[in-house]
Amino acid sequence: MELEKGGYLYLMLVFMILIMRGEGQLRENFYAASCQNAETIVRQAVVKKMSLTATAPGTLRLFFHDCFVEGCDASIMIASPNNDAEKDASDNLSVAGDGFDTVAQAKQAVEAICPGVVSCADILAIAARDVVTLSGGPKFNVELGRRDGLVSTASRVKGNLPEPNFNLDQLKSMFSKHNLSLVDLVALSGAHTIGFSHCEFFANRLYSFSPPSPIDPSLDPTYAQELIKLCPKNVDPTFVVGLDSQTSRTFDNLYYKDLVAGKGLLTSDAVLFKDPATNATVTDFANNPLNFNTAFATAMIKLGRVGVKTGNEGEIRRNCASFNT
Ligand code: HEM
Ligand SMILES: *[C@@H]1O[C@H](CO)[C@@H](O)[C@H](O)[C@H]1NC(C)=O
Ligand SMILES: *[C@@H]1O[C@H](CO)[C@@H](O)[C@H](O)[C@H]1NC(C)=O
Ligand SMILES: *[C@@H]1O[C@H](CO)[C@@H](O)[C@H](O)[C@H]1NC(C)=O
Repeated sequence: MELEKGGYLYLMLVFMILIMRGEGQLRENFYAASCQNAETIVRQAVVKKMSLTATAPGTLRLFFHDCFVEGCDASIMIASPNNDAEKDASDNLSVAGDGFDTVAQAKQAVEAICPGVVSCADILAIAARDVVTLSGGPKFNVELGRRDGLVSTASRVKGNLPEPNFNLDQLKSMFSKHNLSLVDLVALSGAHTIGFSHCEFFANRLYSFSPPSPIDPSLDPTYAQELIKLCPKNVDPTFVVGLDSQTSRTFDNLYYKDLVAGKGLLTSDAVLFKDPATNATVTDFANNPLNFNTAFATAMIKLGRVGVKTGNEGEIRRNCASFNT
């Protein structure tokens, strides 16, 4: 009898753990019962914002930076009166304000229909997917059920975001900390098919690469001269150059063709083709846009799982820029 009772309790325990794990997991259609139209409402807000301003790159990058610091929990959205929140860190490398506003607009629209139900972290994940699809990239389902984080500090940013002069080992170790593989790294870097970089992040490749060769010899020489024209020494610090040399507003695979052609803008882009550990993947994505699309969608879903809070953790923020209490 005692044995049976023990077995029964054991089964109950396993069952409860399974339920709790289910609660603690992201899933598609998480809001099917609680806010059926959440994704449609977010999409409408994104479409509207995109019709007013080129918000896609800023929104996509915001998602990446949010996920790599404290996990995908909208910690990057917090505005601190003392300017010491995550978004204030110098390593935010100038995340564009448009991305913040896209999420704020979408949140407002969602709150009007289902107040207090949909997290800012999920709205950011949906918006990041939508800007990709609306820019010509893949369609894919996002997993939902993230809760908003309770911590946002500038001091936690340093060392958690990749830097533009990183080599492949540095990129690899930062991505693998979040269970993202080399293929994920190459695919996610394809986000640079849209958007721009300030001159400061690649000026070293034009003016101070090494004493005998101030210009990085791995840059296509014609492209290097174009960049020097766009970013002369002592350039206005607000000047920017397309990360994709041809189509900065279209989510396509031309970024990879650039890498193969010596037109990777940042060192961290160029190394993906230079290093034999990733060059075959770059070549594949340059030749097969559908392989890129599939790998990008897979990697975005994995990125969206990084450090998430679920179940009863965190909160559902009412206003994405501030904690509830
Ligand atoms: C692999 C390591 C990465 C490095 C070192 C890196 C670095 C940078 C840098 C320096 C810029 C220019 C910022 C500026 O001048 O304002 C930039 C822009 C951008 N990054 Fe990355 N990035 C990386 C990966 C990613 C990933 C994984 C994503 C998203 C999935 C992403 C999305 C973007 C986008 C969309 C822009 C353009 C932003 C705009 O035009 O406002 N990046 N990145
Ligand atoms: C990013 O950090 C800089 C300070 O280095 C700050 O001036 C800028 O406002 C921050 N960006 C955002 C979007 O908060
Ligand atoms: C990474 O994946 C492994 C095995 O799939 C898992 O045990 C681990 O919890 C994951 N780590 C993170 C940070 O997601
Ligand atoms: C990748 O690099 C290795 C070593 O340099 C080279 O042998 C190989 O042909 C390259 N592969 C592609 C697809 O570029």
